Amino acid sequence: MQEDKQVIVDGLTFVPYLSREEIALQVKRVAQEIAHDYAGKQPHFLCVLTGAFVFAADLIRETGINDAQISFIRYKSYDGTSSTGSVKQIIGLNDDIEGKDVIIIEDIVDTGLTACRMIDDLKQKNPASVKFATLLYKPDSTQTGFIPDYKAFSIPPKFIIGYGLDLDGKARNIPDIYVIKD
Ligand code: IMP
Ligand code: MG
Repeated sequence: MQEDKQVIVDGLTFVPYLSREEIALQVKRVAQEIAHDYAGKQPHFLCVLTGAFVFAADLIRETGINDAQISFIRYKSYDGTSSTGSVKQIIGLNDDIEGKDVIIIEDIVDTGLTACRMIDDLKQKNPASVKFATLLYKPDSTQTGFIPDYKAFSIPPKFIIGYGLDLDGKARNIPDIYVIKD
């Protein structure tokens, strides 16, 4: 990745932060941790749309767990570059997860409000266990104290895009991760 490469989305400037190579390395590490912890089990992956679709596709393939199932749910809390503080469920879960070992796959944990809300919703459906895997974790932004079980990167509380993450629905296709310029 060229260090001087910038991208402009909706008039905001972003600079390179994590390259696709660095991302691939950490995704592989998290996948190996999951494969180790779930040896002999059939986890049910739950990809949180929209942002986690790129991470989930790479992570699940890297685990090599071929009898795992995957479902999708959708929540929304961000508007522009900040959290609205209210979490909306946009697409709920139709698949049965009763008695299953669920692994939620999320793009980023910021305030932790979305994560806590999802876990509360899922526990109503009586899974055997629920764990949480996130690509990115902003520990300094927490409003909930939520700590993910698996994380690829801990990052400072700055707005980022790429590798599935968006600015108002844009820039999800960028293969590397970019951070907003100070
Ligand atoms: P939380 O509920 O505040 O933890 O926010 C989680 C959700 O906010 C994520 O699933 C993302 O959709 C979105 N989000 C948080 N931080 C960022 C960011 O830096 N870039 C893009 N989306 C973000
Ligand atoms: Mg999200």
